[in-house]
Amino acid sequence: MYGEQTAAVIAADRQYMLQNYARPELVIERGEGVYLYDTEGRRYLDFVSGIAVNALGYADQGVQRVIAEQAGRLIHISNLVHNAPGTALARRLVENAPGLDRSFFCNSGAEAIEASLKFARRYARKHYGEHKTAFVAFDQSFHGRTMGALAVTYKEAYRAPFMPVMPGGRHAEFNNLDSLTAAMGDDVCAVLIEPIQGEGGLRAATPEFLAHARELCDRYGALLIFDEIQCGVGRTGSLWAYEQYGVTPDMMTVAKPLAGGLPIGGVVMRQSVADAIQAGDHGTTFGGGPLVTAVADHVLARISDPQFLAHVREVGDYLDESLQDLAAEHSGRIRELRGRGLMRGIVLDGPAAAVKNAAQKHGLIVTTAGEDVLRLLPPLIITQAHVDEALTGLRAALR
Ligand SMILES: Cc1ncc(COP(=O)(O)O)c(C=O)c1O
Repeated sequence: MYGEQTAAVIAADRQYMLQNYARPELVIERGEGVYLYDTEGRRYLDFVSGIAVNALGYADQGVQRVIAEQAGRLIHISNLVHNAPGTALARRLVENAPGLDRSFFCNSGAEAIEASLKFARRYARKHYGEHKTAFVAFDQSFHGRTMGALAVTYKEAYRAPFMPVMPGGRHAEFNNLDSLTAAMGDDVCAVLIEPIQGEGGLRAATPEFLAHARELCDRYGALLIFDEIQCGVGRTGSLWAYEQYGVTPDMMTVAKPLAGGLPIGGVVMRQSVADAIQAGDHGTTFGGGPLVTAVADHVLARISDPQFLAHVREVGDYLDESLQDLAAEHSGRIRELRGRGLMRGIVLDGPAAAVKNAAQKHGLIVTTAGEDVLRLLPPLIITQAHVDEALTGLRAALR
């Protein structure tokens, strides 16, 4: 089925790598634009982007240039001193995140969530005392795999084998105003919401739900945190998903695509939250390092360009129309379409993994979100022609 090189990588994986991932027998060697190539020389149209990371596709010339230039200057220096790319990125984030004033950098999404939880507890302790330590998150939420992030992540299977996780996490029903009201109390220091859920199945928050969350947070002195790790940085057609709702959070977590494929996480927050944090309260060795932030500054400058975002909206609308045609053709198998921009979910009448595997055989990489949702997260640089090609792959996979 595959040659020696592929077989050797898979054999070494089975012998030496921890078996915590269930992967298909696919070894990707390189990427160019929106296409990936495996060790067998087969080409795939990529509609996953390394799980919403490779927004500018593969082998992007600008990203390569910034990496080479900055690597020749300074890769790492630590947070013991200032570095110019880090502060430039902090400024660009703040200037492009309406209502938010300060940035903190770390190395992954889960770390960004951990930081936001710590900042919320710090803020609550400063303003209200020691009783205010609870977090409200929602059903089907996904915020990461560390002990704090797990406490707000919904899926029992991720949490149960590792109990006890951080105390204080509770879950209300997503998009249910009464359920959120019932979960609130004086002990709540923050409400954590993905404006558009990723792993949990691509459900978008309703405007009423986010407005209600804002109102309740203000009433109870809790902070509103939007997790834009998957839906942020242009994915839904605006730089941040929250801009489409007109509801401003107190903190926003970012990660995945921000540094063009290099690991990064961040929290962007209001001045009032920043004011609760003192030197020494939190820190990281690698976070905000000059190489990663130089690349992130370049990526953010390109994605925040109004023309780039207009392209995402245009091709996102075209993808939506194309998926609606597909759903009409397969009304028995496709139950619902979800998502916005270039973050789309196809709810199927059965296991999505089977369709994902069939798509791969037809040269299209897609992924799943839960049991029955097929998830599409293409690079933001795709064109209508790539959408047509993906639809051909999906039609073949659904046959
Ligand atoms: C919305 C959201 N939050 C947090 C995370 C965790 O990010 P990471 O995998 O970088 O730790 C993810 C990852 O999929 C995510 O989609």
